[in-house]
Amino acid sequence: MEKDYLPKNFNRMLLSENQIEEIVKRLAERINHDFQDKDLLVVGILKGSFMFLSDLVKQLEVPCCIDFMSVSSYGSGTQSSGRVNIVKDLSESVSGKAVLVVEDIIDSGITLDFIIKHILNKGAESVSLCTLLNKPQRRKKDVPVKYWGHEIADEFVIGYGMDYAEQYRNLPFVAVLNEE
Ligand code: IMP
Ligand code: MG
Repeated sequence: MEKDYLPKNFNRMLLSENQIEEIVKRLAERINHDFQDKDLLVVGILKGSFMFLSDLVKQLEVPCCIDFMSVSSYGSGTQSSGRVNIVKDLSESVSGKAVLVVEDIIDSGITLDFIIKHILNKGAESVSLCTLLNKPQRRKKDVPVKYWGHEIADEFVIGYGMDYAEQYRNLPFVAVLNEE
């Protein structure tokens, strides 16, 4: 049924809505356990994490604040430019907080390496990473990923917040993009 909405240039479904729901529940359980008695600030990296973050925080049973950062490192294609610029900085203080950075996908790790250093420089007590998808084969910077939903090979995915040239973020599932 869900496959019916896949346009022709989608290669295949990677994670269905049900699979995503299970992943989110599993990650939230661990986060609920690990962040008891912490001053938790959840930081979503825009735009890709917006859907994952909103589903994840609905499952959190520990008190938390929410903030967002927006950085740019990708052009309109599928390769990182290697440079990270802050488009929107944090608006909450991170001083003394246990920060949980929420990402859609970690590819080269360049974006998160930059973000972790930035948040620690601002005085956070700790920074942990939670990502829906992890592409470990493509790593250029070694970032410590504590929570990840699903590991994928070197392929480009779209949907559930993730885009190709700003399209497809609204899809409720994750699919592999056929670039041919
Ligand atoms: P990194 O700095 O190379 O780790 O890139 C991280 C960012 O690139 C992610 O937050 C995404 O926004 C984007 N990105 C990396 N791989 C993909 C993909 O397969 N589909 C869509 N966006 C991606
Ligand atoms: Mg992103």
